[in-house]
Amino acid sequence: PAHRPLYGKHVVITAGPTHEPIDPVRYIANRSSGKQGFAIAEAAAAAGARVSLIAGPVHLATPPGVERIDVESAREMAEAVDRALPADVGIMVAAVADWRTKDIASEKMKKRDTGLPALELAENPDILAGVAKGSKRPALLIGFAAETQDVIDNATAKRIRKGVDWIVANDVSGPKGESVMGGDNNRVHIVSENGVDSLDDMPKDAVARALIMRVGQALSDGENT
Ligand code: C5P
Repeated sequence: PAHRPLYGKHVVITAGPTHEPIDPVRYIANRSSGKQGFAIAEAAAAAGARVSLIAGPVHLATPPGVERIDVESAREMAEAVDRALPADVGIMVAAVADWRTKDIASEKMKKRDTGLPALELAENPDILAGVAKGSKRPALLIGFAAETQDVIDNATAKRIRKGVDWIVANDVSGPKGESVMGGDNNRVHIVSENGVDSLDDMPKDAVARALIMRVGQALSDGENT
């Protein structure tokens, strides 16, 4: 029905940052409030979907009707996503840390001990690219791209490189991602094989509803062809 366009569909969403522990009290993280991902989960549930929301550490309430799985690190997020699949739609909104420390100190590192610690880094799994290549790839797989320059060009390249159907790109240039990161508004461009669909600057919950509307449309187009 028109008001529940995702009825019967399973949607897996990642949101928030990841925290990569250095020692028991310190971590590496990306800047992310989780607001946009949570808004998308809320919109998907309101559209009738069964929603699995894999959330990094954020201070947000669980949207109604959403199954939330809390994780800390990128590797935990990757495992939780794998367990949540299969799904009809995957929407990876999380700002996953690209690197973790190679080893996690079991005790708090002391300032006086050795002067400046040298942190050896290891690369985290790319969850989105992994899902795109995996046997449980959702029929519609959507990634996000926070860019500071050449937003559309970078998003177009990223869509191909990651093997996903859509990239939702936003411009986060400026010292703190201007108003986008942590803010309530967002201006996004949805890049697909059909081109670019640029939405107006609007509240994150409106962006979420607009995106979910397009997801519902794409799924019904798929079923009709
Ligand atoms: O390559 P970049 O980090 O810009 O890609 C962003 C997209 O990839 C987002 O959808 C993000 O959730 C996803 N991603 C991921 N795992 C990573 C890095 C990014 O799922 N390790």
